Amino acid sequence: MGLKSDEIVIRGGKPLIGRIEVRGAKNLATKAMVASLLGDTPSILKDVPDISDVNVVRGLLSIHGVRITDPARGELILDPSNVETAHFAEIDAHAGSSRIPILFCGPLLHRLGEAFIPDLGGCRIGDRPIDFHMDALRAFGAIVDKSYNGIHLTAPNGLKGANIELPYPSVGATEQVLLTAVLAEGVTELRNAAIEPEIMDLIAILQKMGAIVNVEPNRVIFIEGVKSLNGYTHRAINDRNEAASWAAAALATKGDIFVEGAKQQDLMTFLNVFRKVGGEFDVHEDGIRFYHPGGELKPVVIETDVHPGFMTDWQQPLVVALTQAHGTSIVHETVYENRFQFTEALNDMGAKIVVHKDGLKDVQRRVARRDFEQAAVITGPTPLHGADIRVPDLRGGFSHLIAALTAEGESKITNVGIIARGYEHFVAKLRKLGADFDFAG
Ligand code: EPZ
Repeated sequence: MGLKSDEIVIRGGKPLIGRIEVRGAKNLATKAMVASLLGDTPSILKDVPDISDVNVVRGLLSIHGVRITDPARGELILDPSNVETAHFAEIDAHAGSSRIPILFCGPLLHRLGEAFIPDLGGCRIGDRPIDFHMDALRAFGAIVDKSYNGIHLTAPNGLKGANIELPYPSVGATEQVLLTAVLAEGVTELRNAAIEPEIMDLIAILQKMGAIVNVEPNRVIFIEGVKSLNGYTHRAINDRNEAASWAAAALATKGDIFVEGAKQQDLMTFLNVFRKVGGEFDVHEDGIRFYHPGGELKPVVIETDVHPGFMTDWQQPLVVALTQAHGTSIVHETVYENRFQFTEALNDMGAKIVVHKDGLKDVQRRVARRDFEQAAVITGPTPLHGADIRVPDLRGGFSHLIAALTAEGESKITNVGIIARGYEHFVAKLRKLGADFDFAG
């Protein structure tokens, strides 16, 4: 995945046309790797994407004594027989900007009786607190000590099943509870859980390991703790966020992209919006063809939400296509507080996007009505011209690629390494789709 440089020069204005493959989901594979810590025997994970977020987890597991081999492309064998404590400086060095270390808490508390989590990173799309995680771990009986360089956790009396209600259906906090409850003593009831497809796939993995997890109606999950778990063999679900990103690229560049591995069931809400904007798609057994049928794109009003709503990770790539729609669109971001910084670069390229702090009225949001960026109003169509751009975060960065490919003229994009965190071999895929670019330097 190593990029030749962190700077790419794109000559836009050409439609992206061709066939690319999307494999295992970044937001499942990384969690499945952590889940292997819970097993008494090795686990096998297939369709693991070659992205830096996976390599970060691989490094973190290795410093904790997990032996990892890759017998075939996209396949990992994770052997947790000799799990051991790691020094926090090593954890910190390996964690980089990833938030994944937070999910090591439960498994390490079960295996070693203690865990250390460095201060976390992650895309700067909001303040990204971990209060839901810490409250849940305390509910299981963990002792949480905050220190100057991170958090040290212990469980002197072991971990016991708990009744937990999340203030918001947080994906990470739901995963935290699942990874802790499966080996806790007794039953855990989790209310207001997240039920994204990646969560359901993680539950399938835990069930394979020997866990008893009941997903009830109304997003309530019961977990009956068991004494031990075995390793799993599992093929990760495909990355719906990457699939949606390439679909948006087809729309914005007036292209035609067959995304092998895209699954309709995981993209239903996205596909409805894609069609309303004026895109066409054909669902096949091995993927989905996304294309711009010609004619004008139409504006839409959408708001991001938890599954099965419109994913917050889908709005950034789509916004680029909305700059080409005839009329005014509104995207209301209800999950993160500051996920519209990427629009500044689009405006530098000629887009007309105004970010409002008030947003749409009376929409339920994760953050009580506070003075955050809540809605982007996009007026189109606006021809885009090339610009010099620095990528701010993962999904915003991919949107900048799409914008540069849509724009007339040349764009220089720096800090593109962030995109490799979640988009496997995106450079090779752009080449395959006929994009005109060079690496600078
Ligand atoms: C996961 O992040 C994904 N990341 C995100 O994808 C995704 O956008 C998000 O879920 C929502 O679907 C991974 O799975 C690695 P949350 P996560 O906990 O778990 C607040 C991408 O581009 N919150 O559901 O961190 C939080 O600030 C990434 O692939 C608390 O307040 O998201 C946010 O406003 C970006 N306290 C909201 O909840 C907490 O303790 C949703 O966060 C935890 C979260």
